[in-house]
Amino acid sequence: MFSTLVLILCLTFPVFLLFFFQYRTTFKSPPFPPGPRGLPIVGNLLQLDSSSLHIQLWQLSKKYGPLFSLQLGLRQAIVVSSPKVAQEVMKDHDLECCERPKLLAQQKLSYNGLDMLFSPYNRYWREIRKICVMHIFSSKRVSCLSSIRHSEVKQMIQNISSHASTSEVTNLNQVLVSLSSTVICRIALGRRYEEEGTEMFHRLFKECEALMGTLFVSDYIPFMGWVDKLRGLHARLERNFKDMDKFYQEVIDEHTDSDNKTAEEDLVDVLLQLKKDNSLSMDLTNDSIKAVLMNILVGATDTTAVTSVWVMTSLLKHPRVMKKVQEEIRSLSGKKPFLEEDDVQKFPYLQAVIKETLRLHLPAPLLVPRESSKKYMIDGYEIPAKTIIYVNAWAIHRDPEAWEDAEEFKPERFLNSTIDHRGQDFCFIPFGAGRKICPGMHMAFAALDVILANLLYSFDWALPDGMKSEDIDTEVLPGLTMHKKNPLCVLAKCQM
Ligand code: HEM
Ligand SMILES: *[C@@H]1O[C@H](CO)[C@@H](O)[C@H](O)[C@H]1NC(C)=O
Ligand SMILES: *[C@@H]1O[C@H](CO)[C@@H](O)[C@H](O)[C@H]1NC(C)=O
Ligand SMILES: *[C@@H]1O[C@H](CO)[C@@H](O)[C@H](O)[C@H]1NC(C)=O
Ligand SMILES: *[C@@H]1O[C@H](CO)[C@@H](O)[C@H](O)[C@H]1NC(C)=O
Repeated sequence: MFSTLVLILCLTFPVFLLFFFQYRTTFKSPPFPPGPRGLPIVGNLLQLDSSSLHIQLWQLSKKYGPLFSLQLGLRQAIVVSSPKVAQEVMKDHDLECCERPKLLAQQKLSYNGLDMLFSPYNRYWREIRKICVMHIFSSKRVSCLSSIRHSEVKQMIQNISSHASTSEVTNLNQVLVSLSSTVICRIALGRRYEEEGTEMFHRLFKECEALMGTLFVSDYIPFMGWVDKLRGLHARLERNFKDMDKFYQEVIDEHTDSDNKTAEEDLVDVLLQLKKDNSLSMDLTNDSIKAVLMNILVGATDTTAVTSVWVMTSLLKHPRVMKKVQEEIRSLSGKKPFLEEDDVQKFPYLQAVIKETLRLHLPAPLLVPRESSKKYMIDGYEIPAKTIIYVNAWAIHRDPEAWEDAEEFKPERFLNSTIDHRGQDFCFIPFGAGRKICPGMHMAFAALDVILANLLYSFDWALPDGMKSEDIDTEVLPGLTMHKKNPLCVLAKCQM
C-alpha cells in the first residue's frame, strides 16, 4: 500500500512540477517575446552571422514577428522590426530605453563613457550632448566649415578629371573614403592626415573601429572572459587605447601651443576654448575632449563615405534616375565651374535620391544597440531591465505595410512626401530617433550634398567595357558600417 503511494507520488511529481512551471510562465509573470531556441549558456550567439546580422534578423522577424527575443549568452535581447514597435520603443518608452549596453571595448575606447555614443544616460551625457549640439553640430558651425569641404571636393574633382583625361578607371570607394576621412580630419583636428605620410593614423583608427565591432565573449558570458585573453583581445585593446590616447594628446598639445595657430578654427579649437572659458555647467577634461573626438571621427568618417558610395552605386544601377538627377542639377546651376553649398540646397530630386539611398542602404542597419534601464510593457510583453535592444532599421525600411514596392529604388516616393529623417517618421530612421538621435545629421547632409552634386555635375559616368548596370553588386563587408565589399570602379567623362 505504502509503496504504491510512493510510486504514484514519484510518477506524478514531475507532472506536478511541469504544471507548476507552466502556471508560473503563463499566469504569474507576463511573457517575454518569442524567439529562436538557443543552446544552454551560449544561447543564440553561435547561430548569428556577424557579416549580415541585419538580414538574418529580418528573416527571423518574418517567423517570430516584429518584436522577438534573442538569448546572447547570459544576456537577453529583443529585436524590433516594424515602424509601430519602433515608435513604442524610441518614443513612448524612449526614457526607459536610452542606455547603451556596456561593452568592454567600447567602454575602454570611450574613456569609460565620457563620450556621447557609449555614455550611460545620465546628467553627464545630457551636459556633454548639450554642449556639442550647441557648439559643434549647430548649423552655424556646420556652415563655418564649408570652405574645408569646398577645397577638398575641388581637389577630388581635379583628381577625377585627370583620370578622365586619360580614360583611366576611377575607384570611387577609394576616392570617397579618402575624401571623407580628409574632410573630417581637417574639420575636427585641423590637419590633413593624408599628406603627412601618416599611414599610422589610419591604421590606428581602423583598429579602433575593428575592436569596437569585435565580439568579446566576456560581454555576454562573464565567467568565460579568459577566452578573450587567449585570443589576445585584451592586449590589442590596451595597445590601441594607449596609441589613440597618445595621438589625441598630441593633437591637444599642438592646439594649446599658441605659436602654432592655424587660420581656420577647427573643432578641437572650439572644445579647448570652451574648456578655457569655464562658462560651462561642468568641467571639460582632456579625457572628455578625447572621447568626443573619438565620437566625431568614428561617427562621421565611414557613414559619410559609405552613403556617398551607395548613392553612386544606386545611380549607376538605375540609369533613368541618374539621367533625371543630372538634368536637375545641370538645368538649375547655369554655367558655374563648381557648385557651392548655397547652390546645392535647391535640388529636390538630389535630396530624394540621397534619402532613398539611406532607406535601402543605411550605414548602420541595426542603428546603435540600446539597453533598457527599467522594466516596461510593450504589446503585452514584459521587457526586463538590462535587456539589449536592437532596432532593425534595415527591416523597417523594407516593411511592405509602410512602403509601396519596398525593395525598389524609387526616389520619387520622397518628392511630394513629408516623410523625413528627423526621427518623427518611424518608417524611416537612418539616424535613429528619440533622445539619442544622431546629432551629426546637418553635418552629414552638408558634406553629402556638396560631394554628390559636384560629382554628378562635372562628369558623366559609365561602366568599364563589358560591364552592365545589372552586374553591379551590393555585397557588404562585415563591420560597424555597411561598406560596399567590391569597389565601385567606373569611368568618368568630363562634362565641360
Ligand atoms: C549618413 C550619415 C550618418 C548616419 C546614417 C548616422 C547614423 C547614426 C545613428 C543611427 C546613431 C544612433 C542613434 C540612436 O541610438 O538612436 C548615431 C549617433 C551618433 N552620430 Fe551619427 N550618423 C551619420 C553621420 C554622423 C556625423 C557626420 C557625425 C558627426 C560629425 C555623427 C555623430 C554621431 C554621434 C556623436 C552620435 C551619438 C549620439 C548619442 O548617442 O547621444 N554622425 N548616428
Ligand atoms: C588627390 O590626389 C592627391 C595626389 O595624388 C592625393 O593626395 C589626394 O588624397 C587625392 N584626393 C582625393 C580626394 O582623392
Ligand atoms: C590637458 O592637456 C593640456 C594641454 O596639452 C595639458 O597642459 C594639461 O596638463 C592636461 N591636463 C591633464 C589633467 O592631463
Ligand atoms: C606645429 O604644427 C606643425 C604642423 O602643423 C608641426 O609640424 C609642428 O611640430 C608643430 N609644432 C609644435 C611645437 O607643436
Ligand atoms: C508632386 O506635386 C507636384 C505639384 O504639387 C506635381 O506636379 C507632381 O507631379 C508630383 N510628383 C509626384 C511624384 O507625385
